[in-house]
Amino acid sequence: MKPANANSVQVVTQAEPLAAEILAGLRAVPKHIAPKYFYDSKGAALFDAITELDEYYVMRLEAAVFRQYRSAICAAIGTGVHLVEPGAGSCEKIRWLLPDLSPRLYTPMDISAEHLHVSVARLRNDFPALNVSAQVCDHTVGLRLRAEPQDAPRVFFYPGSSIGNFEPEAAVHFMGAMRAAISGRGGLLIGVDTKKATAVLHAAYNDKAGITAQFNLNVLEHLNNLLGGDLNPANFTHVARYNEELGRIEMYLEASRQHCAVLAGERLEFAAGERIHTENSYKYYPQEFIALAQRAGFALQALWQDEQKWFSVLYFSAD
Ligand SMILES: C[S@@+](CC[C@H](N)C(=O)[O-])C[C@H]1O[C@@H](n2cnc3c(N)ncnc32)[C@H](O)[C@@H]1O
Repeated sequence: MKPANANSVQVVTQAEPLAAEILAGLRAVPKHIAPKYFYDSKGAALFDAITELDEYYVMRLEAAVFRQYRSAICAAIGTGVHLVEPGAGSCEKIRWLLPDLSPRLYTPMDISAEHLHVSVARLRNDFPALNVSAQVCDHTVGLRLRAEPQDAPRVFFYPGSSIGNFEPEAAVHFMGAMRAAISGRGGLLIGVDTKKATAVLHAAYNDKAGITAQFNLNVLEHLNNLLGGDLNPANFTHVARYNEELGRIEMYLEASRQHCAVLAGERLEFAAGERIHTENSYKYYPQEFIALAQRAGFALQALWQDEQKWFSVLYFSAD
């Protein structure tokens, strides 16, 4: 029997001072925009296109790990769980587990309402027996999950190395929030990109087709639509570089000329060569990541990697 709240989409309205947060980032030195603003429907579609690129090994290798170890991964999670996926996007990766897993309830969460609605409709069509209770929310301001089903162990699913978008301390904090949302048994299944040769990382974030550049530049259009503005993508170029010392890819939008723009009624000035920092993507050796997860209250149960050890999938218990 389906729980009473199953197959619904809940919109969690968080009193978020949107314009204030965005403008504060664009007034700061150096200027920055939070990566959560990449994902209007065009941004979500561009991200899906990135995952298909030859250079973007992340999706390919994560899929390979899940293909090879699916039975072991599902056995580690157990049956009848409440599976919660923050930043579920197109809800494609849950499909890797569904043939074996049969969760009691699946809760995909995403900030991009339109994309989540479409993804959930497709999922329900393909898996009519699956109980889905989707939630539109910003998971960085808190994980507000419904209490039910109370007797199902809660397991978080956070693939795609999205954890790399957090600063390491913020990653501990976010995993701590997941840990706090688990009472009793439960766990965290997480995909983490590994440190590797700079050339491989550069190619992955500077693809020849320019899709990552379009994705990065699209954030300006999204802000114009959200707040009213005339930020012009033609005045910026995409920059992505690996910072070896910090172990992270850094993405920027670099102003190609000196210019002014208006956003939410505020005049913004850009010097030629000035950068807006739009994303970090931290890469972790498994031991480095395990130490962060332990600080958040998780205990490692299993680690699976591809042959080259370029991508890790880890299962942690909350016990
Ligand atoms: C990089 S995509 C990953 C999608 C999918 N999980 C995967 O692994 O392919 C990040 C997803 O998280 C969502 N997202 C980003 N920041 C978010 C936030 N703060 N709260 C909720 N969703 C967020 C985006 O809308 C997008 O769908």
